[in-house]
Amino acid sequence: MNFDEIIDRKGTHSAKWDMMDKLYNVPADDGIAMWVADMDFRPPACVQGALERMVSHGIYGYYGGDAEYRAAICWWMKERHGWEVDPAAIFTTHGLVNGTALCVDTWTEKGDGVVLFTPVYHAFAKVIKANGRRVVECPMVLESGRYEMDFDAYEDILDGTEKMVILCSPHNPGGRVWSTDELRQVAEFAKKHDLILVSDEIHHDLVMPEAKHTVMANIEGIEDRLVMMTATTKTFNIAGGHSGNVIIPDEKLRADFNAKMMGLGISANSFGIEMAEAAYSPEGAAWVDALVAYIDGNRKVFDAGINAIPGLKSMGLEATYLAWVDFEGTGMSREEFTRRVEEDAKIAANHGPTFGTGGESFLRFNLATPRAYVEQAVERLQRAFADLQ
Ligand SMILES: Cc1ncc(COP(=O)(O)O)c(C=O)c1O
Repeated sequence: MNFDEIIDRKGTHSAKWDMMDKLYNVPADDGIAMWVADMDFRPPACVQGALERMVSHGIYGYYGGDAEYRAAICWWMKERHGWEVDPAAIFTTHGLVNGTALCVDTWTEKGDGVVLFTPVYHAFAKVIKANGRRVVECPMVLESGRYEMDFDAYEDILDGTEKMVILCSPHNPGGRVWSTDELRQVAEFAKKHDLILVSDEIHHDLVMPEAKHTVMANIEGIEDRLVMMTATTKTFNIAGGHSGNVIIPDEKLRADFNAKMMGLGISANSFGIEMAEAAYSPEGAAWVDALVAYIDGNRKVFDAGINAIPGLKSMGLEATYLAWVDFEGTGMSREEFTRRVEEDAKIAANHGPTFGTGGESFLRFNLATPRAYVEQAVERLQRAFADLQ
């Protein structure tokens, strides 16, 4: 568990490092990749061990007998989140973008509206649009530097053709951990507008020490319209395994989803399952605790350095490793602050507008990297915006 170790990922088909030149014009040799949400850390030894056992056995046939895998998920959710999961409620998809697409396809028709609280994880809108549904943006408001939902304003936005709402909990990119009160309001909103509520909780293990995440499944009275999405991939840095869990408490909704999975011929791959089962273990839990402490240290270094630059504001992270930085106070155009970050500081960071309304003046920086990179990034940004000091 040496999160300070710099592991060279260049030339390994890493999207984060090997695509930054093409996508952001940030040179591979001395650029710092701080965009897509994967980490520059190896997963815990228990995950490596599971893969090594597969490799040394050397036969990669179809997977069968997933009782232990389901039991590991149930153990983790109970132990880490106080959530009792019925093993029969779990469906394994090829990741949670795939899970989102399956939900949209199962419970909405072409032309239906799907509500998003923006700015939010960009793949939601991409998947909704690619399936011929409409994105209904409900912009969040900034209150004392953090995002909140404004349900009164949303009454004027919805027109009754919406069928689903997707909540990102904890929130990417704002790093919010929603309070139980806020979760209850989302549940009430879903009920009032007769929406299926999809709660994407892929970041729910990466919660900073001062915050407390509540799983939506523990909010009463929403079971009959709730779809939970969880995964080991963000938590343990195994996104290449393309595996996620869609967990559905209600039996009727479960039958709908099962029919869609059958219709599309979807079954899980053994690599994702073996890694997840190994990860959801006491050893995996100890590793996550150490990881969160490390990210907590990184965000403190980053925030202190960034907030010292006049005009830049890094939003206080309650969860995730994704820092959401507002450049509005610089008075610069989006092109200019982005140019300084990419050309001058040589940092690849996600562009705010891809997250929808409200993201225009932001860039998102991935802090799940050795501290030395975070420190270098801060120095480079301070230099790139030195004229504001
Ligand atoms: C909220 C959210 N959901 C889903 C994903 C991606 O999930 P997957 O890799 O399982 O498709 C991400 C990745 O950043 C995310 O932030």
